[in-house]
Amino acid sequence: MRRAVYPGTFDPITLGHLDIVARARAVFDLVTVAVLVNSRKQPSMDLETRLQVIRESLDELPGGAQGVEVISFEGLTVELAGQLDATSIVRGLRAISDFESELQMAQLNRRLAPGIDTVFFMTDIEQAYVSSTMVREIASLGGDVSSMVPNAVIRRLRP
Ligand code: PNS
Repeated sequence: MRRAVYPGTFDPITLGHLDIVARARAVFDLVTVAVLVNSRKQPSMDLETRLQVIRESLDELPGGAQGVEVISFEGLTVELAGQLDATSIVRGLRAISDFESELQMAQLNRRLAPGIDTVFFMTDIEQAYVSSTMVREIASLGGDVSSMVPNAVIRRLRP
């Protein structure tokens, strides 16, 4: 079974993330969306809420959450991948600007675990400019993010 881990902060999950999940599960038998517990970033949504929102968001995909599971994790992504017998780490690329930091992470992860490769999927152009950070900012200022995030997120953002 080809298994992949898709790690991230997902604060909140966006339609860009969801697009990557859909692309990854077309290639892998099982994709584990892994939410980092102790991120250096201070998440605006607590861990349990993020996990719940991701699960609800997966239900919005055609075919639902088939081929995808959601977990939280602490520590190194490569260690999680090893524990899960995953051969690949999935990451999304939106633009060239993502490439430098993603290349660094992929190369360092390879050094830590030479048997695990990072596989990149290109986000749909519709979502190429969407980021969790911008979504949080736009939403906090009362802007409309309904074209950027799954309905499960919109329900949580509503006052
Ligand atoms: O959604 P993000 O914040 O871009 O995801 C970053 C994430 C969670 C993938 C990265 O910070 C990570 O893998 N953290 C786990 C700790 C780790 O393995 N660090 C070494 C990476 S080279």
